[in-house]
Amino acid sequence: MGEREQFRLGILGSGKGSNLAAIADACEAREVPAEVAIVISDLPGAGILARARERGLRAESIPPGKYRTKLDEEAERTYIAALQGARVDWVVLAGFMRILKGDFLRAFERRVVNIHPALLPSFPGLEAWKQAFDYGVKVTGCTVHLVDQGIDTGPILAQQTVPVLDGDTPATLHQRIQAAERVLYPATIAALLRGEILVQGNRALRASPKTR
Ligand code: GRF
Repeated sequence: MGEREQFRLGILGSGKGSNLAAIADACEAREVPAEVAIVISDLPGAGILARARERGLRAESIPPGKYRTKLDEEAERTYIAALQGARVDWVVLAGFMRILKGDFLRAFERRVVNIHPALLPSFPGLEAWKQAFDYGVKVTGCTVHLVDQGIDTGPILAQQTVPVLDGDTPATLHQRIQAAERVLYPATIAALLRGEILVQGNRALRASPKTR
């Protein structure tokens, strides 16, 4: 690593944690210049917390409060405090099933990334792989983007295509998209942290790597 900067990631998720595992592995292998400082879930039984603990990572569940699809104000404050307490530089959403808004995004201005299992702006929202399958598209994929106030909007940092095969079911398609995510997400986070992605308005451009 030499004198390269080492960043601290806060990972939020509600699911099984396959993206967390891929990112943590890439950090350990020093392919991503960061460490996972904290993993937070809205669900105490989420697999992502178990996978974090297996790896010796700090893992906490924080109740989301009274709403079904977002954090309430008190929960939002608790999430921000936990992430700031862990001195997090970047917030990485890995299957976090709550919409983040206002104060949260202001606390980590343009420092929140997400992965979505479709080629945005097509098929935002839930079960995007199934939406794509049901629509009958021949190509879908996954998208890494900066998070803004919208749902699955914000500057697109990287996308990976995945073909829809004749023999696919939504489940087999989802598996291949997730395999693509496990490669695309760590690689994109690495490029972002190394300053190799330049965001100009809504467009993200590849900059030449920072000289060491
Ligand atoms: C991923 O497929 C991601 O695209 C979506 O949620 C899923 C999380 O899976 N946002 P995992 O918990 O990382 O296995």
